[in-house]
Amino acid sequence: MHLQALLCVLAACYESAITLNAKSDEQKGDGKDVTPLLLVSFDGFRADYLEKYPLPNLQKFISDGVLIDHLSNVFTTKTFPNHYSLATGLYAESHGILASRMYDPETGKVFTIHNSSDPFWWNEATPIWVSVQNCNYKSAAAMWPGTDLMIQNRTSTYFLKYDSKVRFNERLDNLTTWLTGDKLVKFAALYWEEPDNTGHIYGPENTTMMAKVLKEVDDHVGFLMDHLNQTGLWGKINVIITSDHGMVQCSQDRLIKLDDCVDRSSYVLVDTTPVAAIIPLNDSLDLYKKLSNCNVHMKAYMKAAIPDRLHYRNNKRIQPIILVADEGWTIVQQGNFLRLGDHGYDNSLRSMHPFLAAQGPDFRKGYRMNTINSVDLYPLMCNLLGIPEMPNNGSFSNVRCVLLREKCSDLAAVVGIVIGALIVLTTITLLFRLLKNREHSSSRPFARLELEEEDDDEPLLE
Ligand SMILES: *[C@@H]1O[C@H](CO)[C@@H](O)[C@H](O)[C@H]1NC(C)=O
Ligand SMILES: *[C@@H]1O[C@H](CO)[C@@H](O)[C@H](O)[C@H]1NC(C)=O
Ligand SMILES: *[C@@H]1O[C@H](CO)[C@@H](O)[C@H](O)[C@H]1NC(C)=O
Ligand SMILES: *[C@@H]1O[C@H](CO)[C@@H](O)[C@H](O)[C@H]1NC(C)=O
Ligand SMILES: *[C@@H]1O[C@H](CO)[C@@H](O)[C@H](O)[C@H]1NC(C)=O
Ligand SMILES: *[C@@H]1O[C@H](CO)[C@@H](O)[C@H](O)[C@H]1NC(C)=O
Ligand SMILES: *[C@@H]1O[C@H](CO)[C@@H](O)[C@H](O)[C@H]1NC(C)=O
Ligand SMILES: [Zn+2]
Ligand SMILES: [Zn+2]
Repeated sequence: MHLQALLCVLAACYESAITLNAKSDEQKGDGKDVTPLLLVSFDGFRADYLEKYPLPNLQKFISDGVLIDHLSNVFTTKTFPNHYSLATGLYAESHGILASRMYDPETGKVFTIHNSSDPFWWNEATPIWVSVQNCNYKSAAAMWPGTDLMIQNRTSTYFLKYDSKVRFNERLDNLTTWLTGDKLVKFAALYWEEPDNTGHIYGPENTTMMAKVLKEVDDHVGFLMDHLNQTGLWGKINVIITSDHGMVQCSQDRLIKLDDCVDRSSYVLVDTTPVAAIIPLNDSLDLYKKLSNCNVHMKAYMKAAIPDRLHYRNNKRIQPIILVADEGWTIVQQGNFLRLGDHGYDNSLRSMHPFLAAQGPDFRKGYRMNTINSVDLYPLMCNLLGIPEMPNNGSFSNVRCVLLREKCSDLAAVVGIVIGALIVLTTITLLFRLLKNREHSSSRPFARLELEEEDDDEPLLE
């Protein structure tokens, strides 16, 4: 924490040095005029819902801001790991919130989404709402995972204790009260449980139920814009709307039954599906072999062999054997099928990706990007708030072009200019030749025709 306070001072010095040097940009300056940032998550909002369902309010929000079609999020593609990655810029192995169920081998502690408040699990990282306070600003939060817990000895400055029954409008109303009532509040975070909940119960392919819940979500976005407008915040704060992960259809016909392959007495099951965490009790190699051959739709990894790209190995809470189900498959011990929709699968799957939209004074308008890594959001937010980044796995340069103040030559525009230039050059060359040919043969009106015939005879010439 002391280190961070020092970083804040250094960042402030650096900032003013830059301001003195190059930027005669009044936006920044002493940091007190930093534009507040509101970060909103609609849990389980799969990226392609945006293309498949009418979402007029969200489209209105996007049309005047930035859309990133899909975020490459972190493994496991579950709620807590991904919300903590958005807030820290770290992969799960580095921030320590690895799954919805965890076991710590050193202390014997167990983490579940209903028993998650022990700071022990969260203290491997520093979330942005704590960094904001270390820089002498304040933060406000409505149900964003972790904001009501003591992390690095602090909750969010203002927060609501998690309660799923508190309606969206009330959560937002509390946030805007804090944002308007206390000018030091520079970061606010808002969490909403849908469309995740409906996606689990009915499955994302139930278009009737998904259309219904997405209409509700879109109404919330409409309320958000109206409410920010009425409280005088619209146009004065930056707003980011995103999500933690997507959702995929599951089925009774896609079950992987561990009991068919291994004896229950030979292991402890810490987490079940779609990523199972297993502690062998006896011969781990033997257990691994049996699990490897259990089902073609499930991969088994000894901890040391978990692929690098998952960034899911370097933490003591990752168990000795990990099982990863293929998209849409469910791992159970016996026959009990759980949910018609699920997430948690390999983060390279498109169905697991959420979207991101942003709007406000610092964002470009009508700007679209295909993808970024979800860990890139953290350095972007630090940049917006003018606070130093803690060590993280994101990259500001991947995402900086969403900002108005960044000078970006869009690759598409560059390609367009090059192609345009080529067309102009070619046209000039052709015209030039045509004129030359005319000069040569001004007395023979059918010269072009003859030339073409000659060309046909000798196609290899020219
Ligand atoms: C919650 O987890 C803590 C350890 O982090 C444990 O001591 C406590 O007994 C758990 N509570 C319940 C209700 O399981
Ligand atoms: C936590 O914060 C309290 C009050 O803000 C302070 O008294 C205490 O020393 C802090 N503890 C640690 C471990 O920093
Ligand atoms: C949140 O707002 C409601 C009214 O919408 C109010 O009753 C409640 O006290 C507020 N909660 C906090 C923690 O300020
Ligand atoms: C969607 O869910 C509803 C309620 O369970 C059900 O009546 C309907 O048949 C489902 N539709 C599809 C396409 O699965
Ligand atoms: C904000 O409110 C004003 C006046 O009520 C209205 O003209 C404007 O369109 C609103 N802007 C947005 C973005 O809703
Ligand atoms: C433990 O491993 C040994 C050797 O692989 C095997 O014979 C024995 O049945 C195993 N015990 C259990 C409970 O799996
Ligand atoms: C992610 O960032 C953390 C903190 O800087 C670092 O320790 C870790 O090695 C990084 N992970 C990767 C894969 O680069
Ligand atoms: Zn979620
Ligand atoms: Zn979920």
